[in-house]
Amino acid sequence: MKDIHIIYISISGNTRAFIQKLTKYAHEQQQNDAKLPKIISQEVHLQTTPHEITEPFFAFVPTYLEGGNGIDNGDVEILTEPLREFLRFNQNAQACLGIVGSGNRNFNHQYCLTAKQYAQEFQVPLIADFELRGTTQDVEQIYQKLRTYLN
Ligand SMILES: Cc1cc2nc3c(=O)[nH]c(=O)nc-3n(C[C@H](O)[C@H](O)[C@H](O)COP(=O)(O)O)c2cc1C
Repeated sequence: MKDIHIIYISISGNTRAFIQKLTKYAHEQQQNDAKLPKIISQEVHLQTTPHEITEPFFAFVPTYLEGGNGIDNGDVEILTEPLREFLRFNQNAQACLGIVGSGNRNFNHQYCLTAKQYAQEFQVPLIADFELRGTTQDVEQIYQKLRTYLN
């Protein structure tokens, strides 16, 4: 079984915490069945220089928008652009198997809007979403969902 490669960005640490929980969960699953995939993750930082990714991967992006409401305005991404630049770099988008978005439902129409925009720009599926650091159930469901995209 191939491993699950993830590239993500995290400004305030929630997405990073989710990836840590996902990595731990995958490790526990592997203890029972060594054939199950482990998580290999890479965090993109503001200062990260985009480079080519050859291994198929998933991108995890939280949502930060410049004000507005997500209907007639408020669809401009802030802070997470380095991940978008990463996906735009060379053929990286072609290696992307899908996007997982995170955010906060208090933002209504802007909930996970950046992930939706990525899915549209890069023509890849929006696989799942979770709020803030995600629940235990999110971790389990998203791990299983990512597995179905590995061939
Ligand atoms: C300034 C600011 C703007 C935000 N805008 C949105 C938004 O438009 N839509 C949304 O779903 N969540 C929004 N959020 C919530 C974050 O996406 C959420 O807290 C997420 O878990 C942050 O992930 P991170 O800690 O990995 O950076 C916003 C949070 C902040 C602080």
